[in-house]
Amino acid sequence: MAKTRNTARDDTHFGEKTVPLADKQGLVDDVFHSVARRYDLMNDLMSGGLHRAWKDALVSAVHPPKNERDFALLDLAGGTGDVAFRVVEAGGAGTRVTVCDINEEMLSVGAERAINQGLDDRVCFEQGNAEELSYPDRSFDCATIAFGIRNVPRIDRALSEAYRVLKHGGRFLCLEFCSVDVPGLEALYELYSFQVIPRIGQAVTGDREAYRYLVESIRKFPKPKAFARMMEQAGFRRVSFTPMTGGVVALHSGWKL
Ligand SMILES: C[S@@+](CC[C@H](N)C(=O)[O-])C[C@H]1O[C@@H](n2cnc3c(N)ncnc32)[C@H](O)[C@@H]1O
Repeated sequence: MAKTRNTARDDTHFGEKTVPLADKQGLVDDVFHSVARRYDLMNDLMSGGLHRAWKDALVSAVHPPKNERDFALLDLAGGTGDVAFRVVEAGGAGTRVTVCDINEEMLSVGAERAINQGLDDRVCFEQGNAEELSYPDRSFDCATIAFGIRNVPRIDRALSEAYRVLKHGGRFLCLEFCSVDVPGLEALYELYSFQVIPRIGQAVTGDREAYRYLVESIRKFPKPKAFARMMEQAGFRRVSFTPMTGGVVALHSGWKL
């Protein structure tokens, strides 16, 4: 019998290349392994500090209780814990965050930061794949993913898993870049993304290709309306998105009702 060949459905994008779906995760892991130690500095340099304002908007939407009430947040693809630290600082004594990321190197940078900031009793770092979470159903009050979903090969699985582990009444929030298609601004954005960012990446992390992948992956990510439909298909209700900074980034929201 003839061997089954990969169909287009088994392929996905990795930057500008088309790669077998099964290979994408390993390639993504190499990118974050390579940049982990300089990741936070690069975020500031690449976004001119804007990522802080975008994350502040995410934290406001998470709206952790200020009092002692228990509040469990799962921060998916949480990397070095930037969102997690902001949420525990905004919340009261009952706010706890589990940072789940597939990459050990990113997690260990975050775990060191937690110890240095005295937050290791409220933020824990656990290795896991967003497509296949080890947490029981209905474990968390809120789930977030910031600049992580476009790196996950099977987005539909990650959305279904986020839905599964949320409690009823829980909220899912996703911060992600969008491709800018405003004439004029688009050309400037392309120039910055493809000429400036990889050069900064080369200078700071020594890895120009990693940053080429990161900007190319933004172009391949579904438009906000298409992503909103994917969230609805995963079961989320009252799905909405808020564009920020001229549509460079969107904050997506959905509820498990
Ligand atoms: C651009 S970083 C974002 C980190 C953090 N959320 C932030 O905003 O600073 C993307 C993260 O996604 C993680 N990641 C990629 N694929 C993943 C997967 N399948 N499951 C969990 N994490 C994943 C990477 O290891 C990396 O830490």
